[in-house]
Amino acid sequence: MRIIFTEDYDGMSREAAKIVAGQLYLKPASVLGLATGSTPVGLYDMLIKVHETIGLDFSSVTTFNLDEYVGMNPENPESYHYFMQEHLFSRVNLDPSRCFVPDGMAEDLSAEGRRYDERIRRAGGIDLQVLGIGQNAHIGFNEPDIQFEAMTHKVRLDDETIRANARFFEREEDVPRYAISLGIRNIMLARRVVLLANGPKKAEAVRKAVCGSVTPEAPASILQLHRDVTVIVDRDAAACLP
Ligand code: F6R
Repeated sequence: MRIIFTEDYDGMSREAAKIVAGQLYLKPASVLGLATGSTPVGLYDMLIKVHETIGLDFSSVTTFNLDEYVGMNPENPESYHYFMQEHLFSRVNLDPSRCFVPDGMAEDLSAEGRRYDERIRRAGGIDLQVLGIGQNAHIGFNEPDIQFEAMTHKVRLDDETIRANARFFEREEDVPRYAISLGIRNIMLARRVVLLANGPKKAEAVRKAVCGSVTPEAPASILQLHRDVTVIVDRDAAACLP
């Protein structure tokens, strides 16, 4: 595990953008695994800037998002489909037919999970997976559990996650209780992983991810077993690291 310490959110986003841009420079037809939430917004803004200024090319890139809320229409501004359109897809030269987000509206979510996993496999697997981290150390929406869930699956969101995500909704009651999420094995199969964390609320989760016991009770701790992980933290998120 490599840890990059940065001063603040901008520094974290800049370091992450360098890694993603370097990946696309070396392999223009890369398969990227992408996250939503507040954490990667600065990274996406920087990638857009690099695209606009020096022509970082996304035309051959394929993307797979980590998750979507169950029952959420892609047109809904709170959906992760919509989020990705707003923050990245519509602002660089990605081919829309190669941008994938799990279908939270699928009637059979198990079948949708299998379809999504197969699509990733056919695309050649994920080259670089971008992750945020929940306050309870979830990655994707793999919440603390008694075992690591392997592949794309339906998850019940923790009360802590629902409270944290309420900021994106009018009322806490509006936050969906279920999501469909890439599993831990999917994430571990990515060739490279970059995990971003900023702010004091993430400090304890970062400690668990980087130097706690490897346990499904802190899902991000599994990354200690991955051979190519870069953790990028700002000063606040690094506060509990030794
Ligand atoms: C989002 C995702 C989640 C978030 C995590 C942190 O696609 O999979 O694991 O990365 O909940 O969210 P933020 O960045 O909003 O603090």
